[in-house]
Amino acid sequence: MSSIKKILITGGAGFIGSHVVRRIVNRYPDYMIFNLDKLTYAGNLENLKDIESASNYQFVKMDITDSDAINNLFETHQFDGVIHLAAESHVDRSISHPMEFVMTNVIGTVNLLNAAKNIWKDNFNGKVFYHVSTDEVYGELSDEGKFTETTPYSPNSPYSASKASSDHFVRAYHHTYGLPIKLSNCSNNYGSHHFPEKLIPLMINNIMNSKPLPVYGKGENVRDWLFVEDHASAIDLIFHEGKLGETFNIGGNNEWKNIDLVRLLCKMMDSKLGKAIGESEKLITYVGDRAGHDFRYAIDSSKLMQQLGWMPSVTFEQGLERTVDWYLANPEWLEHVTSGAYKEYYQNMYSKR
Ligand code: NAD
Ligand code: DAU
Repeated sequence: MSSIKKILITGGAGFIGSHVVRRIVNRYPDYMIFNLDKLTYAGNLENLKDIESASNYQFVKMDITDSDAINNLFETHQFDGVIHLAAESHVDRSISHPMEFVMTNVIGTVNLLNAAKNIWKDNFNGKVFYHVSTDEVYGELSDEGKFTETTPYSPNSPYSASKASSDHFVRAYHHTYGLPIKLSNCSNNYGSHHFPEKLIPLMINNIMNSKPLPVYGKGENVRDWLFVEDHASAIDLIFHEGKLGETFNIGGNNEWKNIDLVRLLCKMMDSKLGKAIGESEKLITYVGDRAGHDFRYAIDSSKLMQQLGWMPSVTFEQGLERTVDWYLANPEWLEHVTSGAYKEYYQNMYSKR
């Protein structure tokens, strides 16, 4: 028997997954990391160019809804741990195409749970199934309060309902079969390699191209932003040191109204692009609101900080500046992901608002 730990990371070609894969490949040379990804519109192997030829890394193109393929893969490699990030992740797409979210986020997760249960059933010792989830499962907040690990689930969008359902299956497999699970629920991430359908990279891309900046509703909705590398460090810590069967909330303690955040980005980018301050703000365009738009998210991460000593490593200003600098330095990445299907997506999503 090899003593090398075999870890399966799903969704590793996506935004957060690529940061998690890079971190684990670089920090744990004695692990063998398998990155399983279907490569949907959101999956991009360009995100992993710097580690693609590492000797402890292997890419597997696979769909988690294909239970036969998943079972075979688990039987072949006998993984010691799973970090599950693969998902359909964009709320607006879930409003127009909910079934894709049911298939990948619910059925796909249950396929992985079944495969892990089947190969680990004789001995759960040392095994971990870590499910990465979202704060959106808790629903929305008004002006006061924060989500804690005991906030009741109250998902409002097809996306959050599918993630809530997957969380419930993960808990149920622990309770019923004793599967060694861990779970985390994180707030909005930002950083490099973020697909420009989400607020921050979409605004950066539009400012770079002097295109209108579509703010939903009145721009009063609030999100709690966390730098993606700090999410990856939390995942690493929880995977290795979090207690089995437990949930951890992860957040940036960093709440911003959408309109204030867009204005901050405009100012930051005007100065970096050598434009007159105020020029990009003129591009702000209020558009029709998202259906069922959650008003406010805010996360209480004190359990993770107190139990495992996690702390974010950057301030929002530092993280945002690093993010903007990365997009300005990598226009070809944006060009590749916005050619083709993105144009059609953008037209469908924004022309009717
Ligand atoms: P993403 O959309 O950027 O990446 C998702 C990845 O999953 C892509 O590489 C895609 O190809 C892959 N994938 C999708 N369907 C698949 C399938 N059927 N089989 C195999 N692979 C498939 O998403 P992200 O923003 O990086 O989010 C990753 C995870 O973190 C998700 O589970 C999401 O719910 C959760 N999360 C995201 C945020 C956030 O702010 N982005 C916050 C909290 C939690
Ligand atoms: O809270 C965690 C969640 O954060 C993750 O689980 C999701 O995967 C991730 O997509 C994100 O969901 P949001 O819906 O909060 O993120 P998004 O970037 O789509 O939108 C952020 C806010 O900005 C939200 O209030 C809607 C608004 N918005 C978004 C877009 C794309 C706009 O005003 N204009 C836009 O064009």
